[in-house]
Amino acid sequence: LTRIKLKYEEKNAMYHTFVENYFKQMNNQKIAVLGAGNIGLSIINGLLDNPAFDPKNIYATRNKIEKLAFLEEKGVNVSRDNAKCVKDAEIVMICVKPYKVANIIEEIKENIDPDRTIILSAATGVSLSQISEMIGMNVPVFRIMPNIAIEIKESMTCISHNDVSEEKVDQILDIFNNLGKAIAIDEELMDASTVLGACGVAYVLRFIRAMMQGGIEIGFDADTAATIAYQTVKGTGELLLKKGLHPEREIDKVTTPKGCTIAGLNEMEHQGFSSSLIKGIVTSFSKI
Ligand SMILES: NC(=O)c1ccc[n+]([C@@H]2O[C@H](COP(=O)([O-])OP(=O)(O)OC[C@H]3O[C@@H](n4cnc5c(N)ncnc54)[C@H](OP(=O)(O)O)[C@@H]3O)[C@@H](O)[C@H]2O)c1
Repeated sequence: LTRIKLKYEEKNAMYHTFVENYFKQMNNQKIAVLGAGNIGLSIINGLLDNPAFDPKNIYATRNKIEKLAFLEEKGVNVSRDNAKCVKDAEIVMICVKPYKVANIIEEIKENIDPDRTIILSAATGVSLSQISEMIGMNVPVFRIMPNIAIEIKESMTCISHNDVSEEKVDQILDIFNNLGKAIAIDEELMDASTVLGACGVAYVLRFIRAMMQGGIEIGFDADTAATIAYQTVKGTGELLLKKGLHPEREIDKVTTPKGCTIAGLNEMEHQGFSSSLIKGIVTSFSKI
């Protein structure tokens, strides 16, 4: 049985290498990530984890490039030279803090080719029109709002764009659908998408942490409580996504009349569970 399993794995590995090489040949998009910090690096890690993207077609910049040595070892083009990267790549993702966007655009402006370059910005609160104005020419511009789960190709990414062809919108959606799930939204919802999709990661993490604390109090060691909490959250999310279910209907299935689930759930609501989450989301939104 072990020998058959090994042979199967060997064949499987060969098949995967073939598919990987095929995709890499098909996909020659050159992608530059300017500002490989938290989100920029997560995007690069997601790209590297995907057979559709070849490391030699990925460009990464930051000031402290010594922190990107491991990317260089993987074949990524690492430098401090934003302008040079824009010359080499067609898809340029600006992933610096919002107050640095203008400086970066000033640096790269000369190398932007309106017929070739597509500009993507992850910067919160910097509008499409502001970016276009900084660039000073008619270039395809997208705002992107991914979250850190992009690192494992499980991001929720919302995008909005200026007046660009449908083909370009599909091209950008395609990149982010390879890194999780991507949807195009109106620009006026970009701040809301920042809160729900990007800040949302922190809310879910705090929820998981609280579940772990509860789990420990009722008898589990920390590691076991963590495993149960992580898998429960993952499984519940996937159940809703894959089956297109509504949370409230599923709650009905889990709550036996007079049972322990409904008693706990109602106590959470008496303590303001849903209300505090909603108020937190609205407060985050008011701070953008
Ligand atoms: N973090 C998230 O979950 C998230 C999600 C969605 C969107 N965003 C948005 O993404 C942007 C970046 O956020 P972040 O959390 O990733 O910040 P961050 O960790 O501070 O990353 C920004 C990076 O930009 C680099 N940088 C600064 N000046 C540069 C320059 N002139 N040329 C090249 N690189 C430069 C910095 O490198 P050095 O440290 O080497 O100077 C740093 O690594 C923000 O606008 C934020 O709104 C963040």
